[in-house]
Amino acid sequence: MVETATDIGTGTTARAEDLHREYGRGAAAVRALRGVSVAFAPGTFTAVMGPSGSGKTTLLHCLAGMDRPTRGAVWWGGTEVSRLPERRLAALRRSRVGFVFQAFNLMPAMTVAQNIELPGRLSGERPDRGRVLDALARVGLAGRERHRPGQLSGGQQQRVAIARALVSRPPLLFADEPTGALDRATGHEILALLRAGVDEDGGTCVMVTHDPVAAGYADRVLLLADGVVVDELDRPTAAQVGECLSRLGGGGL
Ligand SMILES: Nc1ncnc2c1ncn2[C@@H]1O[C@H](COP(=O)(O)OP(=O)(O)O)[C@@H](O)[C@H]1O
Ligand SMILES: [Mg+2]
Repeated sequence: MVETATDIGTGTTARAEDLHREYGRGAAAVRALRGVSVAFAPGTFTAVMGPSGSGKTTLLHCLAGMDRPTRGAVWWGGTEVSRLPERRLAALRRSRVGFVFQAFNLMPAMTVAQNIELPGRLSGERPDRGRVLDALARVGLAGRERHRPGQLSGGQQQRVAIARALVSRPPLLFADEPTGALDRATGHEILALLRAGVDEDGGTCVMVTHDPVAAGYADRVLLLADGVVVDELDRPTAAQVGECLSRLGGGGL
C-alpha cells in the first residue's frame, strides 16, 4: 500500500473491485451491493442511475471512503482505501474527495465562508480566505461570503456546497442527487459546474441522479439494479437513458 507520486492530484482513478455491502446479519440482512466492479478515469463524468433501493448511495459512499464494504475493495489511484485505518482514511479523504449531498448539508448558523472553511478546520488546517473567495467566485457567488445559508435560494445553497467540496481541489468529486431538490433551470447550472470541474480541472465526477436529462451531462451512465451493474451506456441521449430505466422498472424513481 505504498503511495506513489502518480496517486496524487488529478491523475487519481477511483475503482471498485467486487464490492459487496450488506446491512444487518442473518435473515434480516440487506444486500445493498452484490459484486460491483467499476473504474472511473480522470477527466470523466459518470452518472449512476437505477431504481430506488438499487444501491446507488451505498456505492457512492463506499467509493468516497465514507462507508466500508463488507467484501471487495475500493482504490484511489494505487491506494486501497477500504483497508486504511480510520484516521489515515479520514486524512486522505479530505485531500482526495469532495462530496455534494442532495440536501446541501450546510450549517445554518454559519456564514457561507465559514461553511466552506469547515472541513479544513475540522482537519486542523488554518482557513485560507483567498481560496474560499476563489471557490465562491467559481460557483458564481462572489460577494456572498458573509451571508447565511437561509438568505440564499436552494440553487445558491447547492453552489455553496459545491464550493465547499471543491475548495481543497480534490481529484474525486461525488454527488448524490445534487439537483434532486432544485428546479430544472437551477439544476442545469449545478450540472454545468460539475461538468466544468471535469473539463477544466481534469477531475473525476461520479453523480447519482434520477433525471435522464441530468445524465446527459455525463460521459457515461451506469445502471444499477438490486446491487449490481446491469448496464453501461456511453454518451447516451436522454431518450436512451429513459428507455433503459423503464426497462429496469420503477422509471428510476
Ligand atoms: N444504513 C442502512 N441500514 C440498513 N439498510 C440500508 C441502509 N442503507 C441502505 N440500506 C438498504 O440498502 C439498499 C440500498 O440502499 P441505497 O444505497 O440507499 O439505494 P439507492 O440510493 O439506490 O436508493 C436498500 O434496500 C436500503 O434500504
Ligand atoms: Mg440514494
